[in-house]
Amino acid sequence: MKNTILILLALPFFFFSCASNKSMKKVVNNSLDFAQKQSMLMADTLLPQKGMLPRTYQNGKLFTSNSRWWCSGFFPGTLWYLYENSNDNKLKDLASTFTSRVEREKFTTDNHDVGFMIYCSFGNGLRLTNNDAYKEVLMTAAKSLSTRFDDRIGAIRSWNSNPKKWQYAVIVDNMMNLELLMWAYKYSGDKKFKDIAVSHADKTLNNHFRDDYSSYHVVSYDTITGNPHIKQTHQGYKDESAWARGQAWALYGYTMMYRETKDDKYLNQAENIAKFILNHKNMPEDGVPYWDFDVNPSQNEPRDASSAAIMASAFIELSQYCEKPLSKKCLKMAEKQLKSLSSDKYMAHLGENGDFILMHSTGSKPGNSEVDVPLSYADYYFVEALTRYKNLKKW
Ligand code: GLY
Repeated sequence: MKNTILILLALPFFFFSCASNKSMKKVVNNSLDFAQKQSMLMADTLLPQKGMLPRTYQNGKLFTSNSRWWCSGFFPGTLWYLYENSNDNKLKDLASTFTSRVEREKFTTDNHDVGFMIYCSFGNGLRLTNNDAYKEVLMTAAKSLSTRFDDRIGAIRSWNSNPKKWQYAVIVDNMMNLELLMWAYKYSGDKKFKDIAVSHADKTLNNHFRDDYSSYHVVSYDTITGNPHIKQTHQGYKDESAWARGQAWALYGYTMMYRETKDDKYLNQAENIAKFILNHKNMPEDGVPYWDFDVNPSQNEPRDASSAAIMASAFIELSQYCEKPLSKKCLKMAEKQLKSLSSDKYMAHLGENGDFILMHSTGSKPGNSEVDVPLSYADYYFVEALTRYKNLKKW
């Protein structure tokens, strides 16, 4: 009798969870289907433009870049994820064509973005095709990135710009580039790559975060003492604010470092960053942050869909590592973000939006650059998050 009552009480929850699973499946499949069609249109436009890659779309005009721009690896990476989902050889060919456009960046030593550029393109390509030639590109890129590590500081230098202001600028975004180094360590067995990644992650953990686990954007280190001499923002609202994409990079970066090292310190950091984001009073109902958590939401500030996409991807992964109730909250937020980004408010229509998938991202509001526009990295992390969700559910 007692068991029958328990079953009857549980039934509505069971049906609710089946219905919500079904609706997520529809959302994910529809969005991937759209992303594939839209990205093929983008590829058709760019194929005749030698060496070019998509950047954004503004005032009816498509803006492209050559491989030097930090975002050059994202469109090839998006194509690799779409190939993973469809097994369509046309996508595989497109992905390898656009990936080869980025190859020369393996020699990049003048900034830290070589990780973004080469790992998102060649890293995904290698994962899906085991193409031997890609291994050399990734190893060369990892060596290039390592040249930016200074033992005295214990971190990789992000930017060389503004040397009078920043002696040694490290931005929180740089956590993302460590995945390339962890790959190089696993592939080559050379511990130097892991040591650099761990040292950088530890130094960032100690100096980039406030007591509430929000992150500064830029920390510059004194090259003699190795201590921070400046903590400020570059793309956020103010030095003491929480720039939305910075929080997303931090969440993703420490989740990834936990996956790669299984060091609980990184899991703990990722969990605390997650709590900061999940509990923030200015997080909008739809889970797509304003460009900075500290701007006044009533003043019609632009959103940053790229932050929501990066967070969604990281939340899906983190939900697999942390305990309940946090794991449940992470997954729920990722589902909310994927649903929102898949809605008419953020997802474009076929052939519109310069053939980018998502609208409403913000590159740099203070720099008045790429505000409320499509961006290739929003699309990349959105498609990655959809893929991760699909794989998690084994659909
Ligand atoms: N890494 C540059 C940006 O997030 O805008």
